[in-house]
Amino acid sequence: MTADKLRELYLNFFKSKGHTIISGASLIPENDPTVLFTTAGMHPLVPYLMGEKHPAGTRLTDVQKCVRTGDIDSVGDASHLTFFEMLGNWSLDDYFKKEAISWSYEFLTQVLMFDPEKLNVTVFAGDGVVPADEEAVEIWKGVGIPEERIFRLPKEDNWWGPAGQTGPCGPDTEMFIDTGKEKCSENCRPGCRCGKYVEIWNDVFMQYNKKEDGSYEPLGRHNVDTGMGVERTICMMNGLQTVYETELFVPIISKIRELATVSDGDSTRSERIVADHMRTATFILGDGKGSVVPGNLGANYVLRRLIRSAVRHAKKLGMPVGFTEEIADVVIGEYKHVYPELADNRAHILSELHLEEARFEKTLASGQKEFDKVSSALRDHGQTQLSGRTAFKLYDTYGFPLEMTIELASERGLTVDVDGFNQAFEKHRSVSHGDGGTFKGGLADHSELTTALHTATHLLHRALKNVLGEHVNQKGSNITPERLRFDFSHPEKMTPEQIKQVEDIVNEQISKDLSVKMEVMSLDDAKKSGATALFTGKYDEQVKVYSIGNFSKEVCGGPHVEHLGGMGHFRILKEESSSAGVRRIKAVLEK
Ligand code: SER
Repeated sequence: MTADKLRELYLNFFKSKGHTIISGASLIPENDPTVLFTTAGMHPLVPYLMGEKHPAGTRLTDVQKCVRTGDIDSVGDASHLTFFEMLGNWSLDDYFKKEAISWSYEFLTQVLMFDPEKLNVTVFAGDGVVPADEEAVEIWKGVGIPEERIFRLPKEDNWWGPAGQTGPCGPDTEMFIDTGKEKCSENCRPGCRCGKYVEIWNDVFMQYNKKEDGSYEPLGRHNVDTGMGVERTICMMNGLQTVYETELFVPIISKIRELATVSDGDSTRSERIVADHMRTATFILGDGKGSVVPGNLGANYVLRRLIRSAVRHAKKLGMPVGFTEEIADVVIGEYKHVYPELADNRAHILSELHLEEARFEKTLASGQKEFDKVSSALRDHGQTQLSGRTAFKLYDTYGFPLEMTIELASERGLTVDVDGFNQAFEKHRSVSHGDGGTFKGGLADHSELTTALHTATHLLHRALKNVLGEHVNQKGSNITPERLRFDFSHPEKMTPEQIKQVEDIVNEQISKDLSVKMEVMSLDDAKKSGATALFTGKYDEQVKVYSIGNFSKEVCGGPHVEHLGGMGHFRILKEESSSAGVRRIKAVLEK
């Protein structure tokens, strides 16, 4: 089964059920500042899911290009991708659960011919707010799925949306193919990440609207929103182990192998990262709008990160400069019959890739100069080991992955103090609160936006302690130019009132335009002075302590804004479970 055939079968199946085939939308969302890219087929349809009349009627189907970068660090495994195609069908207050589930079952077992025995489904188990979806359970049983292959799971698993901050959402039912692998443990079930069960389709029953204050109200409409992943489905249909073995990736991987000159134990992961990231970059650049080009903010930054990460992995594979254009050409050739905009924008795609590759090469070249300087100095002093600090500087400032430094060093008969590097890395990470998302891979991002979000993280930490109690402690932090993500210890879900209180406290400090002060002292003194310290170092180690007025005091590497005024309005987008006893908040600063 090819992707072409799958798209055709899907659209025609739903056409036969009264749906109108519509065109997918741009990858760059229009009129929705809360997300950087289109992440699902429902996304461009939000106004119609909310009640606006769609010109094509109440039953729609399409194929949508999607980009999701939340799992970017998982790319390289068998199934995670940053770009994928989503097949979808929608009911705009037309049919509901019975038709949606029956048609999903019919398409999977009678058109795609999946063995019904391999099909496992999950449904929403209910919580204090929304009851369990027993209706979906009954419909699944009615089409022939036995109780033991129906799994009732909590909101984390079986609730979808909204796509941005507010909007339509609801309980869903997800369909998984059992690959036949052994269960990884007694508790292994659909949704487990071990790879036994692969999710291919999701039917969302959109009955709710999430409001700005975080509460849900009935949408007053019964919509259905479904999404089937093209790459995973053809992977399963062809009995393959990974999406990279599908015909969508084979030509890309072959080109990468043709250009590569190095092959070692790590090559598979690097090949996959180059293939995934270059495919995504090509689609973003080829979207037709031309508005997203590599840069330092928002979607532009995501694109830059994808390209630079591909360049680094290409280097590991020994691929030549200029490879980005060659790979993009394969992607364009392969997809242009489905997405003609790629061919129309070919010149733009290739020239932007060329420029970004050159810019990154230049940064790397300055790193090379630094490396040459340090290594000759070492030689002059009869030393043979590059210090961990130097290796870290090459990594942090010039984007040199450690492996590359080791390689360059060995060419000059030098070794690298890897333990020292790891120590410097850890220290930097704990001191700067592990906002690894931004400097991982050497793309230190100290833009105005990330700096302000970093300061907001301190305010949030303190406000959470004030509202929830001193047991709240930071468990993780990740900052992108668009948002902060903060994990903290707390045993239960925050109430909408608590969320509001925290927001108000943070905004109050911002409106006071408090100033931020930095002092250097020993860790011991910092702790004695009452500073919050996650940093576990030697007691006499010198650390930076940042104080925000009298409101917050934390040991941290910075950087921070000097005054809070002008940071914008702090808003919590999401409060959810991260792991047992740990909650996760995503928040933004709005201008
Ligand atoms: N919006 C749902 C999802 O992304 C179904 O398409 O899974």
